[in-house]
Amino acid sequence: MKARKRSKNKKKKVLVLHGPNLNLLGKREKNIYGKTNLEMINNALRKLAKELKVDMEVKQSNIEGELVNYIQKAAKNGTKGILINPAAYTHTSVAIRDAILAIQLPVVEVHLSNIYKREEFRHKSLIAPVAVGQIAGFGKESYLLGLKALVESIEV
Ligand code: DQA
Repeated sequence: MKARKRSKNKKKKVLVLHGPNLNLLGKREKNIYGKTNLEMINNALRKLAKELKVDMEVKQSNIEGELVNYIQKAAKNGTKGILINPAAYTHTSVAIRDAILAIQLPVVEVHLSNIYKREEFRHKSLIAPVAVGQIAGFGKESYLLGLKALVESIEV
């Protein structure tokens, strides 16, 4: 009886992944990314995760292979979906795309800036075709909308 109750109340586990240079938010290109730093984004996400009753883990890395490792690990540790801002790797990383394809978990891609309004090399995302969807251009709000969308797309 007790065990059944515990499993019923088990929270869905999600992973938030921040790619390269996002650790510099708040200091980096403020005209594009604003004054909000990564800790502020993570705190807002934690608050929302609590409201949505999901268990959330957050990682940031400047290293492509490390992001690939986090994605692979998620498939093995019970994670139900990934919210990712791959940052510059959005436009270059076949490795991150392949990792997403390999794990078969829902992935939502987010960007602070509207990448389609910026330089042409940012218009192409290698990740979008393997993601459930993409949200771009709303600053911190992109992450919050993305987390809501991810939780919606996770099957119970
Ligand atoms: C970004 C957009 C990318 O083109 C860029 O390389 C970033 C941040 C964004 O959140 O707007 O580092 O992913």
